Amino acid sequence: MVQATPFLLVLFLALGAPGLAAKKCSLTGRWVNDLGSNMTIETVNVDGGFAGSYHTAVTATTNEIKVSPLQGYMQKGPNQKGQPTFGFTVNWRFSDATTVFTGQCFVDNDGKEVLKTMWLLRSRVESISSDWKATRVGINVFTRLQLQE
Ligand code: BTN
Repeated sequence: MVQATPFLLVLFLALGAPGLAAKKCSLTGRWVNDLGSNMTIETVNVDGGFAGSYHTAVTATTNEIKVSPLQGYMQKGPNQKGQPTFGFTVNWRFSDATTVFTGQCFVDNDGKEVLKTMWLLRSRVESISSDWKATRVGINVFTRLQLQE
């Protein structure tokens, strides 16, 4: 028994002290942002790559909004501590624009996952003289979309 106690303690710690481990933030799943846009991120692969779809609630155009694909990378480096950084591009299927998002996947003080992002929306302009007005910048905060009962 005297020899078993340290062994069991080491085993307990090696298993990650179940229940004590800090919650990790996962990108996979369905998200909604502060504008009401919905986004689905599929599985993140071993290299950190992921794909998904984006249904924006707003547009800078007069075009009919269509669900659009996204592709990105999440950091898989050793220092993420369950709150990784990421970036993705949305290839809009109803306009000539492209948006890039970058952000970090956090677990907030209530234990809820939240994506804090910044984005650049590049719209197409007809000539180089209009380049100065072609890029918008902003922030979006995403929370997990709760499934309705
Ligand atoms: C376009 O209007 O040309 C394409 C749609 C852009 C939607 C932008 S991307 C940044 C911001 N966040 C959203 O959820 N939607 C807008």
